[in-house]
Amino acid sequence: MNKKAIAIINGPNLNFLGIREPGLYGAESLEVINAQITNDAEKYGLQVSFFQSNHEGVLLDYIQQCYHDSVDGLIINPGAFTHYSYALRDAIASVNIPCIEVHLSNIHSREEFRHKSVTAPVCLGQICGFGSFGYVLALEVLARKLK
Ligand code: DQA
Repeated sequence: MNKKAIAIINGPNLNFLGIREPGLYGAESLEVINAQITNDAEKYGLQVSFFQSNHEGVLLDYIQQCYHDSVDGLIINPGAFTHYSYALRDAIASVNIPCIEVHLSNIHSREEFRHKSVTAPVCLGQICGFGSFGYVLALEVLARKLK
């Protein structure tokens, strides 16, 4: 049987993990996190691909491409776009692919403007506050959902 395809999408400033506010976001680079996710994906029998952009429109194009490529599941950390990008929200809703929102930090215990996610309502759910382990938790959810 073909492996289910999961796209892991990271938004603005997440290419700076390891450099950026390590007290909040940890010391691991995105490359290291992605290597761990690749390992875990093996266990779940999922095929993963990775994409990061600092640009809203580029993220929208990629999400639409996931539709054309018949991707089975999305895991997205939209970074700060979480809090205000209606375009990103609409893109997630448009493609009708099960999507899980992940945040490294607990956005609900931080500044008020981070408490609201405009993207979470069009996702299956949101995982936040568990650092990079959140991506693995999201993989597990999709593995069960897509069985
Ligand atoms: C973040 C939380 C956002 O509020 C912030 O803008 C980020 C990272 C997280 O993973 O905790 O860029 O998405």
